[in-house]
Amino acid sequence: MKLNRKDILGIQELSVDEIHLILDTAESFIEVSTREIKKVPTLRGKTLVNLFYEASTRTRTSFEIAGKRLSADTINISASTSSMVKGETLIDTAKNLEAMNPDIIVIRHSAAGSPHMLAGLLKQSIINAGDGAHEHPTQALLDLMTIRSKKGRIAGLEIAIIGDISHSRVARSNIYGMTKMGARVRVAGPATMLPRGIEKLGVTAYTHIDEAIRDADIIMMLRIQTEREKLNIFPSLREYAKYFSLNRRNIELAREDVLIMHPGPMNRGVEISPDIADGPHSIILDQVTNGVAVRMALLYLLTGSNES
Ligand code: CP
Repeated sequence: MKLNRKDILGIQELSVDEIHLILDTAESFIEVSTREIKKVPTLRGKTLVNLFYEASTRTRTSFEIAGKRLSADTINISASTSSMVKGETLIDTAKNLEAMNPDIIVIRHSAAGSPHMLAGLLKQSIINAGDGAHEHPTQALLDLMTIRSKKGRIAGLEIAIIGDISHSRVARSNIYGMTKMGARVRVAGPATMLPRGIEKLGVTAYTHIDEAIRDADIIMMLRIQTEREKLNIFPSLREYAKYFSLNRRNIELAREDVLIMHPGPMNRGVEISPDIADGPHSIILDQVTNGVAVRMALLYLLTGSNES
């Protein structure tokens, strides 16, 4: 099966078959990263541009590593060292990049919909690396891959996502992906962090963490965006931690073989206690490892390198 699309903009528009294709392809790339010489010639002659208008450690680095392991030429542009600081618009920046004829542009931007706008304007493939609070599709794909490889399936699992659901592009993409793949998803957070009508996405919403994690197979903790403390949507980090942190006490409510996920970066001692983040149930670093493989798969499938 081929991935018959130019861009990866969100999980909402991917079919179950497309998600399986991406995860299967990613699994086939895991082995490349374990070799002594971690490089295959698959994307030789292709050019990847990473255009990041927001901070990133995992996503930007793993796209760069993914491109390099496939032998693509990989260029990184961050807002602070680009001509954006001189007032150049996103569209002008993108048109100038297009003029240099890369093959794929990966973009992270605070404005929801900016990857979609570029996808309509440019001939290059666009990958959304996070657009505002809208979607973070490659994060959800690596999360689905990690769940599938650890549990052997996604369908039928009880998955709890805890935190600021309203402002989380990770939560939104994962809700689309997990429900599509047949998991049952519960979300929990303070009422101020739960979007009105969230149940329409096929999830059950709670305002107490204990209700959401009871008998869960997977618990995904979200980063509390500390910059939102000023918006008064929660009283203080200390209070948030008291009611919504995953810790040694409440993890007992989940299934014995529960797996703990977090997209990173973590606020240790706020949404997750350090002993849980580093404990035997944690698969947080497996998520990061799988991020490279998922991004290799997307670069490979979008450049049509799988077509004979
Ligand atoms: N999970 C994630 O998007 O991390 P970064 O912000 O470090 O890329």
